[in-house]
Amino acid sequence: MKRAKITGIGHYVPEHVVTNADLEKLMDTTDEWIINRTGIKERRHADNKTGASDLGVIASENAMKMAGVKPEDIDLIIFATVSSDYYFPGAAVLIQKKMSMKNIGAFDVRAACSGFVYGLSIADQFIRAGMNENILLIGAEVQTVALKFDTEHRDLSILFGDGAGAVIVQPSNNSSGILSTHLHSQGEHAKSLWMPAPGSHFHPWISHEIIDNELHLPVMNGKEVFKHAIVRFPEVIQEALDTNNLSLEDVALIIPHQANYRISQAVARRMGIGMDKMYSNIHKYGNTTAASIPIAMSEAYAEGRFSEGDYVILAAFGSGFTWASAAIRW
Ligand code: COA
Repeated sequence: MKRAKITGIGHYVPEHVVTNADLEKLMDTTDEWIINRTGIKERRHADNKTGASDLGVIASENAMKMAGVKPEDIDLIIFATVSSDYYFPGAAVLIQKKMSMKNIGAFDVRAACSGFVYGLSIADQFIRAGMNENILLIGAEVQTVALKFDTEHRDLSILFGDGAGAVIVQPSNNSSGILSTHLHSQGEHAKSLWMPAPGSHFHPWISHEIIDNELHLPVMNGKEVFKHAIVRFPEVIQEALDTNNLSLEDVALIIPHQANYRISQAVARRMGIGMDKMYSNIHKYGNTTAASIPIAMSEAYAEGRFSEGDYVILAAFGSGFTWASAAIRW
């Protein structure tokens, strides 16, 4: 069975930078509080004409350029997002249309911050099974539209940003590629980080009452998320290492979902590694949910943080709870 390999990576973030100082004008918060608790200095906000698929198109063009593939070569689109342009259909079909791709399979993955690694696992299985040869996998979010920029909602509105990352996954012609993926979830924590409406739990699923009670906005129990994240990240990274008989010394770089710099620091401490092995760009973009790992991977690659032959571990944790990892030989 042929391994699957990432042959192209690209990302794109909206131009509009929102600094902590900008947020200080909208709510009772400080640059110092945000940096100390999260490591975030600024994030990007999409303009009011841009949906997740629009960011996804530019990230995809960049990934396709690196892989040397054209829109007509792509034979499957997987789009990881919690902020699809419309409630349905998903954003993947909008990519198919906007990029003039053939009438190929296209679907969305709604595993929140783990969405990109879940999507990578799907792409890996489809390539290994011989079903596809050129998969476009995108992680993109325009999620700042679901936030409120006032003191009452400051816990979430300081954290999240918009952006997109994409990869091309193809069959490998040697032993490099995606070595393993591991996916997990624990639905008993679904309400620790969630956005209740619109949804089929409600009849009707959107109403003035839902809006008056702000059930259409995300809600987070930050302490609960933190507590579980710092356990699940090391666990799933170790699972990736053990499956491939690797030690932390063998790994060039761990690319975690950019949830919070303090979470990454706690994970590094628990695993006995320095932050030099734990990639971070959260200071520039905040938490971009499904887009954070491909954006980080794209920047880390451009910075020369890993190259041919290196082992890289991707690790994610988020709403669900879901968590996941991928071990890659570049
Ligand atoms: N600015 C200033 N003060 C703020 C604030 C903000 N943006 N947000 C909350 N506070 C205040 C709180 O109101 C509280 O005040 P009080 O003590 O007077 O009640 C105080 O700061 C402490 O709040 P708390 O919620 O206990 O802070 P915390 O140390 O748990 O940090 C998070 C909050 C959100 C930064 C932290 O819980 C966290 O990072 N959780 C994980 C979140 C995450 O990664 N989510 C995405 C997962 S994919």
